[in-house]
Amino acid sequence: MSPASMGSPAEQKLVWVPKAAEIAREAGAKLREFFAQGVETEYKGDVDLVTVADRTVEKLIKTRLGETFPEHGIYGEEGTRERMQGEFRWYVDPLDGTTNFAHGFPQFCVSMGLEQRPAEKAEGEDGTLVAAVIYDPLRDEIYTAERGQGARLNGRPIKVSRVPELAEALLSTGFPSRKRHASPNVHFYQEFTLRSHGVRRAGSAALDLAYVASGRLEAFWEFNLNPWDTAAGILLVEEAGGKVTDFAGNPFKLDSREVLASNGLIQGELVELFKEMFAGRGLSPIPTPQEFARLRAERGR
Ligand code: IPD
Ligand code: CA
Ligand code: CA
Repeated sequence: MSPASMGSPAEQKLVWVPKAAEIAREAGAKLREFFAQGVETEYKGDVDLVTVADRTVEKLIKTRLGETFPEHGIYGEEGTRERMQGEFRWYVDPLDGTTNFAHGFPQFCVSMGLEQRPAEKAEGEDGTLVAAVIYDPLRDEIYTAERGQGARLNGRPIKVSRVPELAEALLSTGFPSRKRHASPNVHFYQEFTLRSHGVRRAGSAALDLAYVASGRLEAFWEFNLNPWDTAAGILLVEEAGGKVTDFAGNPFKLDSREVLASNGLIQGELVELFKEMFAGRGLSPIPTPQEFARLRAERGR
């Protein structure tokens, strides 16, 4: 563990984060090696990519979590389903940002979120997210949180930003890698771009959430994410003082298929705009490519 992550007395009270952070660092080091050497890409579907790095690192995390927390369950993107009846369950994305990784674009991470599930919970019902670790191995940035203990970046407490309105906000979103033609998100991308300082599409939902938690972004939204993408990031945002809901402002659930996370101050404005747009209102007019071409031709005459 690096000196920065060994932490203050407050950090020493943490139950799961210190060991989980060690595992995420080991996983991240492996990703760094694969990234440096370059990997072949396979397709899981449409433009849903997977590499040897995703599989190897999930296996590594599964082994380490099993050694460290033998009672805990694991639900991993690359197929791990272990001890699913247990009280605790790790949602693991061994490589969030595979498309970036496969192209040599330096934005990806390891994401591990821990849920506590009382025995009476049905499979579709959420328990409580209690611990989170997101590790960006290229920047050597580790985001950690435990419920009630605040969120940290490399051991230092982080808070969401204080930007009070959408017009001054920097946002982020993502687009699905399956059934791309069924997603309306490009309309939201357009409208939020016109009403804010801009919308980034950086390609790692977990890091997007970590950036909301650390105040680098004011908000993030996406359709159809999975619990391994969101579990850790949601807790980080909440523990950093932000807010996470679905697009209608209802409490976020791991299988909501909608995530809207912000610094809290602009959440109401964002929910209102989603409502307007789902009702067919609120879209600012911009020229179609054809209209633009006609105007350009007229100007050229
Ligand atoms: C993807 C990334 C991306 C998001 C996609 C996710 P993966 O995860 O988080 O930012 O837009 O929806 O599937 O496939 O790289 O683990
Ligand atoms: Ca992911
Ligand atoms: Ca992944």
